[in-house]
Amino acid sequence: MQLDLFPRQIVKRKLPTNLTTNNHPIHRWFNFIAGFSPEFVQSCIRDADLSKTRVLIDPFAGLSTALVQANFEGISSVGFEPHPFFFDISQAKIDPPEDHAVVDAIESEIAGLDPYTDELHNIWSEDALKFLRKLIPEQALRLLAQALLQEEKINVSERELYRLVMSRILELTSRSQTDGIYKAPTTIKKSVAYHEAVKAVCGEIRRDIEVIGCTFSRQATLFPTSSESMPVLENDSCSICVTSPPYLNNFDFAEMTRMELYFWRYAGSWREITERVRSNLIVNTTTAPTDMKKDQCGFKATLSKQMRSCLAPLVESLEKERRSRAGKKDYYLLVYPYFSQMQLVFEELRRVLETGSLFHLVVADSALYGVHIQTQNLLASLMGETGFKVLRIEQLRKRGERWVLDKRTGAKKGLGEYHIIAKLT
Ligand SMILES: C[S@@+](CC[C@H](N)C(=O)[O-])C[C@H]1O[C@@H](n2cnc3c(N)ncnc32)[C@H](O)[C@@H]1O
Repeated sequence: MQLDLFPRQIVKRKLPTNLTTNNHPIHRWFNFIAGFSPEFVQSCIRDADLSKTRVLIDPFAGLSTALVQANFEGISSVGFEPHPFFFDISQAKIDPPEDHAVVDAIESEIAGLDPYTDELHNIWSEDALKFLRKLIPEQALRLLAQALLQEEKINVSERELYRLVMSRILELTSRSQTDGIYKAPTTIKKSVAYHEAVKAVCGEIRRDIEVIGCTFSRQATLFPTSSESMPVLENDSCSICVTSPPYLNNFDFAEMTRMELYFWRYAGSWREITERVRSNLIVNTTTAPTDMKKDQCGFKATLSKQMRSCLAPLVESLEKERRSRAGKKDYYLLVYPYFSQMQLVFEELRRVLETGSLFHLVVADSALYGVHIQTQNLLASLMGETGFKVLRIEQLRKRGERWVLDKRTGAKKGLGEYHIIAKLT
């Protein structure tokens, strides 16, 4: 396979969100279904014609596509990502070893392990073990368990790479479809044998380290905290923002990583996933912590009168739909917290970006319970209220059609993914 160090020009409109990731060294180390393409970030950076002293910020770093690409472009960058697993994987990607000797050492360590022979309950909670056993064949799970225990013998500076390598092996040995991230234990795929997976993963990482050579600068800093507050950053310290926040579509970043959160013992139960991971993320799913959903008045009060009047009919429709539906998802409880929290991030961005900075934001609309929520327009209004001048909103791609509320009249609406381009005035 040809690896692109200097990606082809792709018509922006046709850019898939993360479908080109596998063509790019480092980026491909962990494929993230919710990530954007390296080409997208590259075009934002190059269009801005930044000098090398400028700093890019991504307040929703995810697996750090923006920070990795900034490294390729020789630009400094900062990011925020409170999800502990995404943080670890990102750290390994933004600061890869300069030499493949580290990968060789990791490979020889994990290839030579004997399976763990004791009770696996000594390592994982009952819930975690039950879940992992659904996904991973017993023999592989026992080798992975031994590798997990071995982690503490690895140099602290190499642990994130170790976690990335082992997480990739975990994914390959899984007999359930994960696409880089867990989907559901019921979607079957072929489980790759442990030693075969070790060879494939380490080989790919080694090749990428050789390919990038000195074309990759290591100037990115990632913080493991929510971007609702960025006290670590000074006023006017950044010059461009390229980001994609969680969409208001019930896509659950904690649930999708259940395999990894259990494996690495960030959490031992569904409840702990909510308490330790989900509670630090922007509210965008019905599985949000109850106390967050309860404080509707508090979140609503932070928004402008204009914003509240745009959101009120949506909340009302969602509440009405919930009452008539069997599934009973509390979508209506997400709207005020989501926009209130996004407002905090925008306010912080206004503080840390210097005047004239460009702000690129990728987001999709949604049709929860058939209620069309045009998140791109609502966020654009919020950006306007926060001091950004919205220059344009471009549709990056179509995401099919969904029935929207006027369903009874038979109308369908096309959903899309949008690129909002704004400037700090
Ligand atoms: C759409 S993804 C971003 C993907 C990223 N562009 C990439 O290419 O990997 C949104 C990310 O925002 C993170 N996130 C959610 N709440 C956050 C918060 N309060 N502060 C910072 N990041 C948050 C999620 O964990 C998720 O990784």
